[in-house]
Amino acid sequence: MDETKIRTFLKKSFNDRQDKISGLVHDDAVASMGIRCFKSLDSTNAYAKDWLKSYIRLPALVLADLQTQGRGRLGRSFFSPSGGLYLSMIVDCKGIKPGMLTTLAAVSVLEAAKAMQLPQLQIKWVNDILLQRKKVGGIMAEGISSKGELTSAVIGIGLNTADVQFPIEIEQRAGTLQAEGLAIDRERFAALIFSHFLVNLPEIPSHMSMYRQNCVNIGQQLRFEQKGIVYFGRCEDVDDNGGLLVQTEDGLMRLEAGEVSIRSAAGDYI
Ligand code: BTN
Repeated sequence: MDETKIRTFLKKSFNDRQDKISGLVHDDAVASMGIRCFKSLDSTNAYAKDWLKSYIRLPALVLADLQTQGRGRLGRSFFSPSGGLYLSMIVDCKGIKPGMLTTLAAVSVLEAAKAMQLPQLQIKWVNDILLQRKKVGGIMAEGISSKGELTSAVIGIGLNTADVQFPIEIEQRAGTLQAEGLAIDRERFAALIFSHFLVNLPEIPSHMSMYRQNCVNIGQQLRFEQKGIVYFGRCEDVDDNGGLLVQTEDGLMRLEAGEVSIRSAAGDYI
């Protein structure tokens, strides 16, 4: 990954939008922005959280060509071979609910993919990016608190942009954005995601309509577990705080986090 190329694409992206960040002209803001690219890291989120301890100026961005210990939600690992896009955005998020960062990151990925004329992507609540029902990416937001208050956040995004052999345990569910050997410009993709995220951060929750339009859960039969009890129900909507609304036999339930399975045409839950 080439840092200069990312800055060039970021400048272009902000100039195209005619916006400003923190009152600075974009070109200056981008020139002084903390952006670090690595050939290999254990995890861009882990690096970003360490970097934050040195009181860096925000926003900032960390990228790696590959991760040796990529992390996913719920304590899982994230398969991160060379050629994928692995990035962590570090932002100030005072007053913003953490759920909003994940949903805005998902919408930013979809907008960036659209700008790059990649195939239409979808979102599986809350943090999965899908292409033709296969997971091609994931998002993991981690909040950093000071004196009990959320002050900044690291939002990690991993996208399968290379044609790779997935490990057997995920090969049925995982997919790639790369079609017919066409290389994806990862620097441009990263810059488009980051700029979309930053420009829309102050507008939260206006991204939620786009989130809902592209969320595969809505209208589907779901299975999920809460406090050891398994529930089934129809997904009615996602609210403006990112909560999933599911009509179950016990009434309308609101899920803030966790994982849900969707009933497939064959009747099983995947
Ligand atoms: C998930 O699907 O559970 C979330 C995956 C998040 C992966 C990204 S890759 C960049 C960043 N660094 C990590 O270690 N994880 C996130």
